[in-house]
Amino acid sequence: MEKNSISDLTEWKTVKNHFEEIKSINIEKLFAKDNKRGKTFSLYEDGIYFDYSKNQLTEESVDLLVKLAKKVSLGEKIEDLFNGGKVNATENRPALHTVSRDVFSDKSVISGTDVEQIVSSTYKKMQKFSNGIVSGERKGGTGKRIRNIVNIGIGGSYLGPLMSYCALKRYGSEGINQYFISNLDRTFSENVYKKLDPEETLFIIISKSFSTKETMMNAGSAVDWLSNRLKITNPIKDHFIAITAKKDNALAFGIQEDNVFEIGEWIGGRFSVSSAVNLSLMISLGREKYDRFLKGFHSVDNHFRYAPFRRNIPVLLGLIGIWNRNFFGRSAAAVIPYGEELKYFTKYLQQLEMESNGKSVDINGKSVLIDTVPVIFGDRGTNAQHSFFQLLHQGTDIIPVDFIGFARSGKGRDEFHDMLISNMIAQSEALAFGVEEEKLRINGRDEKIIPHLVCRGNRPSNTMVMDELSPYFLGKLIAIYEHKVFVQGVIWNIDSFDQWGVESGKRLSEKIFSELNSEKPDVKNHDSSTNALIDHYIKLKNKD
Ligand code: F6P
Repeated sequence: MEKNSISDLTEWKTVKNHFEEIKSINIEKLFAKDNKRGKTFSLYEDGIYFDYSKNQLTEESVDLLVKLAKKVSLGEKIEDLFNGGKVNATENRPALHTVSRDVFSDKSVISGTDVEQIVSSTYKKMQKFSNGIVSGERKGGTGKRIRNIVNIGIGGSYLGPLMSYCALKRYGSEGINQYFISNLDRTFSENVYKKLDPEETLFIIISKSFSTKETMMNAGSAVDWLSNRLKITNPIKDHFIAITAKKDNALAFGIQEDNVFEIGEWIGGRFSVSSAVNLSLMISLGREKYDRFLKGFHSVDNHFRYAPFRRNIPVLLGLIGIWNRNFFGRSAAAVIPYGEELKYFTKYLQQLEMESNGKSVDINGKSVLIDTVPVIFGDRGTNAQHSFFQLLHQGTDIIPVDFIGFARSGKGRDEFHDMLISNMIAQSEALAFGVEEEKLRINGRDEKIIPHLVCRGNRPSNTMVMDELSPYFLGKLIAIYEHKVFVQGVIWNIDSFDQWGVESGKRLSEKIFSELNSEKPDVKNHDSSTNALIDHYIKLKNKD
């Protein structure tokens, strides 16, 4: 394979030389040298306070990273993204998630195209449909009001709706319960069904391709479940909705044309949370609050597009990630939102970041020769503090952290929330400044135990504090990470919008599925490990 790398660029080498000079840099010393560091390395933008001062970097580091971003034409590439350029090179199509939330201006940026047509007509259809469900005008096949919505989908057709629904549940209407089925696990789906009255249940089948095996199997079993209970001629008619880019597949499944909500091929699964994929969130929130969610995205889209790189949150977040990953060599990064409602946020980000940028060839098919996305993990604070934070404070790997918190809780003035946020701020302070040996000695700690108590500090983090976890700010938060992913994809020169690696596993599982179910199983056409696993499974599954 031909090799080519961004590391050949003079601007990259300049960052590298600068890194070599300052790599033993200490966060505590940086703060001691400049008592305004917290201010210099932070910015406030429309309700978001972004502090990146607790990183091992100087103003020169940021300048050089910005120069690198300019050298790889980040500004032009951002314009290309917004204007419908074919940024998804291997699939020869644009990635127009930014258009999916640009529904408020008279003219879309892509005016006069099928993009504008699909976005605005689907958005209107969503409004009409969700109003009908909430008002009770739109009923099930036996005339009963819809009170349960079951979302069936996987990957981006699951994580975005699930994460945003849970994050904003307290803003939602109470009369309609929402459920999410993704995995191939009948124990789980049957437990969901147990809670439902079929007459009051609506299934939303979310699948861009309308062919993903997990989703199709779960959708098929939902049809069976409903048909066995509702004695009406066509149970699919009033109880199944499809959200897809493959309308024909949904029609072939039996879904009524009126009940198909189209998304374009130019909406990537993991970038689809602001598209019709999130119909269930519109039903939950109602149109007005759902619009605020979209406006949050749109405001960050404008910030990303027009703010100078030095004052641009997604750009800075992306470049600091590059600094940590490619220069300090940090192979993991943690994201810790403080708040129970964001319990699925890191899971959502794992797909967004790792499916997008988990690549090792560049856009031209050449080996990238540098590291791409680190392993992203995390959980909500403070729970995470009581599981893996030990490693963050004293482990042998240094893992940069993004802390995310909100100034106001949903409960008004609230000492629980004060305690929650004290924890967040304390963790960033503790990671950066550690616990010094000398201080422990002064405090009279036992010499033998001192080595165990010392925390070396100098562990980097960013902190983002938003006004509150509202529809508007959730939209903003998601858009910040979507664009961070884009920034890094541009620097690494990879296609952030394809996922060929996932496809290969899908193909193999189809083959093995037919082998597991063959009449005369005698599987010898894999490697010896795979053959033995198949053989073992078949023997055991058929045992009484
Ligand atoms: O995991 C691969 C993938 O294609 C994701 O990118 C996507 O979000 C998921 O499968 C589901 O795909 P679909 O919406 O087509 O069912």
